[in-house]
Amino acid sequence: MSSEFLLLCLLYLASGAVNGIQRWGTQFGQAPLLERFFWRTMDFAYPDEGSRRLAMMKGDFIPENALPVGIEIWRNKLFVSVPRWRNGIPATLNYISLDTNRGGSPRLTPYPNWAQNKAGACGSGLTTVYRIHADSCDRLWVLDTGTIGIGNTTIQACPYTLNVFDLTSDKILRQYRLRAEDINMNTFIANIAVDLGRGGCEDAFAYLSDELGYGLIVYSWQQNKSWRVTHSYFMPDPLAGDYNIGGLNFQWGEEGIFGMSLSPISASGFRTLFFHPLSSRREFAISTRILRDEQLSQDSYHEFQVLPERGPLGHCTASLMDETGLQFFNLIDQNAVGCWNSQLPYAPENHAVVARHDEALIFPADVKVNRGMLWVISDRMPVFLESTLNYTDVNFRILTVPVRDAIAGTVCESSPWGLIGNSVWWE
Ligand SMILES: *[C@@H]1O[C@H](CO)[C@@H](O)[C@H](O)[C@H]1NC(C)=O
Ligand SMILES: *[C@@H]1O[C@H](CO)[C@@H](O)[C@H](O)[C@H]1NC(C)=O
Ligand SMILES: *[C@@H]1O[C@H](CO)[C@@H](O)[C@H](O)[C@H]1NC(C)=O
Repeated sequence: MSSEFLLLCLLYLASGAVNGIQRWGTQFGQAPLLERFFWRTMDFAYPDEGSRRLAMMKGDFIPENALPVGIEIWRNKLFVSVPRWRNGIPATLNYISLDTNRGGSPRLTPYPNWAQNKAGACGSGLTTVYRIHADSCDRLWVLDTGTIGIGNTTIQACPYTLNVFDLTSDKILRQYRLRAEDINMNTFIANIAVDLGRGGCEDAFAYLSDELGYGLIVYSWQQNKSWRVTHSYFMPDPLAGDYNIGGLNFQWGEEGIFGMSLSPISASGFRTLFFHPLSSRREFAISTRILRDEQLSQDSYHEFQVLPERGPLGHCTASLMDETGLQFFNLIDQNAVGCWNSQLPYAPENHAVVARHDEALIFPADVKVNRGMLWVISDRMPVFLESTLNYTDVNFRILTVPVRDAIAGTVCESSPWGLIGNSVWWE
């Protein structure tokens, strides 16, 4: 065996490349993060090369302008959302078939189809979608902000509209335009939480966090009605607007209520909604008993709970809680994902980092758990917004790690009291 060959073999083993899939080591937890998919620029599954090239010539598709921000997993579909912040985004709601794509850089397929992703086609097409949610009743909850552009370039092409798809038939089950009273001049909604109650699929509410308008919009599936909740806890902490991410220093001082996660249903029959402003290091909580009742939600200032701060480097984008009460949250300052077992008090000593990587996890933008697997998308968003991405480098990644392996050996693994069933401290 030549020494060059041996060296090549060693390099191959060191890179850990298996069928184009790389295994990233992590500094915390027991398990390595698996890089499932990666992209330098996003690409879309046009019916043929000719139409793809034509779209590029016409400026309908500009690969460098596409930034993926949200993910969701349902059966064999991995959904990926791409907001229309810049020109040339052919589809905002897309998926990757997990049957036919085991790794690599797959092209995105518009969901449910190309026609229903037409920008500015109010009522028939989705314009801009951020984070999405698939519920256990096989419905996909999609808020279309109707906007094209970002910041001071934003055009409101269509009204804010909640679309609920039947994932088994790919048909729209419900379309609901937010009322004028639900939003304001600054409204920017990028996150959704869906609350299924004890009453089953019909007993559903959606909570939409208005990051820049500082509100929470509640939608009742049964009543087909929405209302807006306001609270000073939705506002950013003025001392938490400075960020250092991906080698950049920048200020996002206006970012209010952002990530939300819902606890399991407690003995009282309700969940707790945990939420945090983006420019803040603090978590807050409110019972869905309050949010679900339009009257109560308007007059319950003191029902909102303040939880302790996560500590320095505690900025957090998306979060979620699984059915066992385990919360995961993206720690954007640390290129990491954190966990908290909600049977323990919310305090930094009860948090752990389950995954961290200074290249692969620059700006974890969304996080999901599906069938015992933790999924994270990282997208270098601040570099995209505040500077320019290097398109010869990998910019976007979707990574997975089994939940059990991620929390092994951390404070999130088990509570010292064991399962305490229905009496949770935050109720
Ligand atoms: C929009 O914002 C950008 C950067 O934040 C600034 O450079 C530009 O001048 C602004 N344009 C207008 C029309 O306000
Ligand atoms: C829900 O309400 C909207 C108007 O706010 C209406 O257009 C729509 O048809 C209603 N849907 C159902 C299923 O009642
Ligand atoms: C862009 O990324 C490539 C690949 O990682 C790297 O070799 C190159 O140095 C980068 N360019 C800049 C300007 O950082």
